[in-house]
Amino acid sequence: MQRSSFSGSVGFVLAAAGSAVGLGNIWRFPYLAAKDGGGLFLVIYIILALTFGFALLTTEIAIGRKTRKGPLSAYRRINPRFKNLGLIGCIIPMMILPYYSVIGGWVIKFATAYLSGCGFEAAQDGYFTNFITHKYESIIFTVAFLLLTSFIIYRGVNKGIEKFSKILMPLLLLLIIGISVFSLTIQHTDSSGEVRSGLDGLKIYVIPDFKDLTLEKFSVTLMDAIGQLFYSLSIAMGIMISYGSYVKDENNLVKSINRIEIFDTAVAFLAGAMVIPVVYVFAGYEGMTASGPGLVFVNIPKIFAETGQIGNLLGAVFFTMVLFAALTSAISILEAIVSSFMDKFGYSRKKSVVAETLIALFFAILVCLGYNALYFELPLPNGTNAQILDLMDYISNNILMPITALLTCILIGYIAGPEKIISEVTRNGEIFSREKLYRVMIKYIAPLLLFLLLLKSIGLL
Ligand code: PFF
Repeated sequence: MQRSSFSGSVGFVLAAAGSAVGLGNIWRFPYLAAKDGGGLFLVIYIILALTFGFALLTTEIAIGRKTRKGPLSAYRRINPRFKNLGLIGCIIPMMILPYYSVIGGWVIKFATAYLSGCGFEAAQDGYFTNFITHKYESIIFTVAFLLLTSFIIYRGVNKGIEKFSKILMPLLLLLIIGISVFSLTIQHTDSSGEVRSGLDGLKIYVIPDFKDLTLEKFSVTLMDAIGQLFYSLSIAMGIMISYGSYVKDENNLVKSINRIEIFDTAVAFLAGAMVIPVVYVFAGYEGMTASGPGLVFVNIPKIFAETGQIGNLLGAVFFTMVLFAALTSAISILEAIVSSFMDKFGYSRKKSVVAETLIALFFAILVCLGYNALYFELPLPNGTNAQILDLMDYISNNILMPITALLTCILIGYIAGPEKIISEVTRNGEIFSREKLYRVMIKYIAPLLLFLLLLKSIGLL
């Protein structure tokens, strides 16, 4: 059977960017950057994106195009001993989808609050906490997000959603730029009389501060940055292998990969520039470093409240667009799981969607209850106290993804050989300017970083 393919490299870049750009950029990146104190995280992240992230993204997309298979069979094709790698790669999206739906639910809650004109309430202290600690409110919104995602895949209307997002994503980008510029103009005097401005916050965000840098702080920042890269680029979970398998042979992979990388990193950077100055203005440096998953939801409403009456409209537009970004990513997660179920168990598409939706529903509700009935505080090796959401995020991003990525590096670096990937990337005579870097990364630096990260993540380092 002829395998379907993207119509051209633009279609591929947009689809891959649709998967990559999502809550990871807008929700996860800013809170990690704030927690780790700004500048240092940003610099490490950008350097890693251009080297480490680039090497893994290239590897996955090239494996996909070369084998023309989804992850479950692609690894086996490269080397039969690595067939189980596809399986771990399938468990990861199953861990992510439940809590992704919970955050997606938070986005729907805020979108509806703004659409119904309650923007000022959303900016009040305690609004977000009251919402997530309420017995069932967040469950309702989570279920709504998950069912919406499942419905889209069940009915096979994801192409329609992707069409919308081609218009909405550039608009979201423009809006984020506008909000970032506005957030620089905000000023606040706190109870001790200290005046802080958005511009001061921006400096903290972009300029690394090496003054009190300890080895411990550096390694936590490095670990957070690597975890974020996997998440943000949708790598180490098979998604980019599937997408690569739909790319036509004549498309230029080097160019496409550069574009995906630049777009994803730019959105993350701008989301940080929008949120971090505001956090700094209202909560100071201590407020920044104490931040967690609620950061964006607590602080973005404050920006809209500052803009006065128009804030309600801005908030409604903003959260609706974020919802689209979240949906295109959630679709790619669910699609990956569904195609694995179809491959592995021979289920029909519809049966696979229903089965995975039920599984995700169960875990998503557990994640919601993690903020009330099942609340606990579990200290993690990265210095945070985890609830169920953080724990699932940690296990997938800091343990399972590094394992998948490490084994991929061993497979390509030592068993199949980097040539396999390089020849695929340059099959039409393309110039692969980062070829040397690629070789060094995949053989030496990436595996070493991943190994250290794993030791650190399980508390051995
Ligand atoms: N990369 C997406 C984001 O940054 O929001 C999230 C994501 C998509 C994670 C697909 C995992 C995944 F399988």
